[in-house]
Amino acid sequence: MEKICIIGVGYVGLVSGAGLSEFGNEVTCVDLDEERIKQLNNGEIPIYEPGLKSLVKTNYNNKKLRFSSDINKSIKNSKIIFIAVGTPQKKDGEADLSYVYAVANSIADNLNHYKIICTKSTVPVGSGEEIEKILLSKNDAKLFDYVSNPEFLREGSAVNDFMIPDRLVIGSRSNKAFSLMKNVYRPLFINETPIINTSVETAEMIKYASNAFLALKISYINEIANLCEAVGADVHQVAKAMGQDGRISPKFLHPGPGFGGSCFPKDTLALSFLGTKNKLPLKTIEAAIEVNNNQSIRMVEKLIFLLDNKISNKKIAILGLAFKPNTDDVREAASRKIIPELIKLGAQINAYDPVAMDNFKHHFPDINYFNSWEDAITGTDACVILTEWNELRGIDLRKLKSLMSKPVILDTKNILSVSKLKNLEFKYDNVGRKISL
Ligand code: NAD
Ligand code: UGA
Repeated sequence: MEKICIIGVGYVGLVSGAGLSEFGNEVTCVDLDEERIKQLNNGEIPIYEPGLKSLVKTNYNNKKLRFSSDINKSIKNSKIIFIAVGTPQKKDGEADLSYVYAVANSIADNLNHYKIICTKSTVPVGSGEEIEKILLSKNDAKLFDYVSNPEFLREGSAVNDFMIPDRLVIGSRSNKAFSLMKNVYRPLFINETPIINTSVETAEMIKYASNAFLALKISYINEIANLCEAVGADVHQVAKAMGQDGRISPKFLHPGPGFGGSCFPKDTLALSFLGTKNKLPLKTIEAAIEVNNNQSIRMVEKLIFLLDNKISNKKIAILGLAFKPNTDDVREAASRKIIPELIKLGAQINAYDPVAMDNFKHHFPDINYFNSWEDAITGTDACVILTEWNELRGIDLRKLKSLMSKPVILDTKNILSVSKLKNLEFKYDNVGRKISL
């Protein structure tokens, strides 16, 4: 088992650090954010991720997992260094690699003996080569091997995804690096998890191609859902039947207000940027992005229609602020696009989310927040569901109706029973299922 340093303790860094320590490695997680390191050393988990707290606690108590803000020392003391910092998008859609390159420079200054430098952050093809150049500018080539090891975990199920992945991708030219990486993931290797050993460039491309394909699938089903509405078909049955075909699979065929989160929006843009840069524009990905942008606008239009074009001064309850259930992450969430549009139209917003309200308050301090869906919908003229939390799936529709001023619902996640809403005489809309106005 290896001594590992993970740089960047966000969603990926923290889950990977905890997971790799559970695999038996000695892991130190480091971050520039000293407050975050202090919190972790006090046993507090700065993000909401099911199963993460107990995994961190067990391995911290076993001294397999440590947290530090001393980046230089932690690099020097480790053999395998994972880069897990953010790669947000720039204004033109290109991935911003400034955090990755800053880390590469810190590593370059601290290569005191042979190390593997491994990038887990999602970086465009060609970034590995740039990182190697930074390392070589201050060090001999014998002092390191470079590896690309993209991460495929999903927020909300990150621990499980990390511990039982569909595949591992290890991009490297060096056999020595590959066998050391196999050792890092030894339990997975023993369990015969598929391991793809490939070049750095191919590993980088696998990550973007995978994310963009999933995003494409979502935009595809959203377009089909919109067409279902026009022709009177039910998208759920369409998706279910399509999914029976093993070549298609039922996964990622759930229509909604458009994909959000910290990855699909930025990664589709970055891949599209790379295509254009190489004079090979990716028309399918560009279309997926455009469809996604239109989908949130379509949700606003649906609500305006439900409210007979009179949205000004209406009280609207928004249930669900996170970009998906089981996370407190609100990056690029549908709520971030839809709420400002409603505010512009003069609506008053009552918001509720089981875990994401604190994060949301940083962006929208002035809307009304409530600690239960019941309080949020009381006295409102319409209710919009934006995240498919289990708690919201189980909403008592009779109670909901009795608390609202007007029984108007836009269910953008299709979690409520159409027949129950019909029986209770709600004015109602959804995405791609029979509308009962
Ligand atoms: P994040 O924003 O949650 O965390 C990044 C962390 O890096 C922050 O805590 C920040 O303080 C720290 N950091 C920045 N610069 C630093 C430096 N120079 N030294 C030390 N720490 C530094 O990011 P994330 O969501 O974990 O994503 C990280 C990368 O992983 C991105 O490239 C992302 O695309 C990719 N990824 C994310 C997910 C996901 O579900 N979030 C899944 C797969 C891949
Ligand atoms: C996604 C990928 O699924 C991960 O494999 C990848 O590692 C990660 O991005 C990343 O690179 O960061 P994540 O963004 O956490 O994971 O969550 P997803 O479950 O993929 O959902 C993304 C968005 O798509 C959410 O807004 C979700 O509501 C939406 N979605 C998902 C749909 O609208 N329909 C679906 O059928 C599935």
